[in-house]
Amino acid sequence: MGTLAVDLLGKALKNPVMNASGTLGYGIEIEPLWNIETLGAYVTKGLSEKPHHGNKTPRVWEERHGMINSIGLQNVGVDDFFSHYFPFFVERKVPVIVNFFGFSEDEYISCARKVPSHHLVVALEMNLSCPNIKKGGISFGKDAPAVHNIVRAVREVTPVPIIAKLTPEVKNIVEIARAAYEGGADGLTLINTMPAAVIDTRSRNMPLKGGLSGPILKPIALRAVYDCYKEVPIPIIGAGGIMDAEDALEFLMAGARAVEVGTATFADPFAMPKIISGLGEWLDENNCAGIAAITGIAHG
Ligand code: FUM
Repeated sequence: MGTLAVDLLGKALKNPVMNASGTLGYGIEIEPLWNIETLGAYVTKGLSEKPHHGNKTPRVWEERHGMINSIGLQNVGVDDFFSHYFPFFVERKVPVIVNFFGFSEDEYISCARKVPSHHLVVALEMNLSCPNIKKGGISFGKDAPAVHNIVRAVREVTPVPIIAKLTPEVKNIVEIARAAYEGGADGLTLINTMPAAVIDTRSRNMPLKGGLSGPILKPIALRAVYDCYKEVPIPIIGAGGIMDAEDALEFLMAGARAVEVGTATFADPFAMPKIISGLGEWLDENNCAGIAAITGIAHG
């Protein structure tokens, strides 16, 4: 069988499949179904300097071709993650990508400072793209100079590689990706959710507005990966509506080095193990020695 192993920012991952931030709890919750070491890497729920309570319910809504969430970045805080949850990943030798955010530039900086430079910490994934908070997040991510400045400010305080997670809600994602790169980002995650809303006709109100994910987002995400691949010389993690191995292959061929799977896990908690086996089968069927070789091949 060909190898699923990929190199991401100098770390060897056993396969290119990881969860999208916030879609797999703190990792231990999935253990009754499958082992966390199945993944190439685990991505944390977005962590902040201090714990955060998140939004009121309802927080998730099923759509015809996707899902809308408005969790509001609830999390235990970066210190609690490293004292209570990180030892589990160390015990299992699972690489971790630390997704994090702040409500201000200072909070991004102080959170990033608290993340240790450990051999299992692959990178900091900087959330510049959450649609569910009033300040911070998306307000930085929509403006190229703001992206450049905040990435550079974080770059100055940590030796850990930085991956910028970008919003699709921009006119030109290549311009934003380039600003992140020039600010010092070592990688990109493309893309986060798209702002969306629900109307309940019976109660005649809007029960939830939040971020749209799932299959409806896939072509938009693929386009972002395809467009950034040739223009910005850093590795890309593709995310957005990946439901099966075929979808994952599309992202890899468009230029992604690895993929994040989110909404699919809500429909089928075994989606990620199935995607990993599907990629292995594809390698065999296509007589391909390694998955890393297909990154970007759709560019000819
Ligand atoms: O609301 C949330 O916690 C979602 C975060 C995100 O999409 O980045």
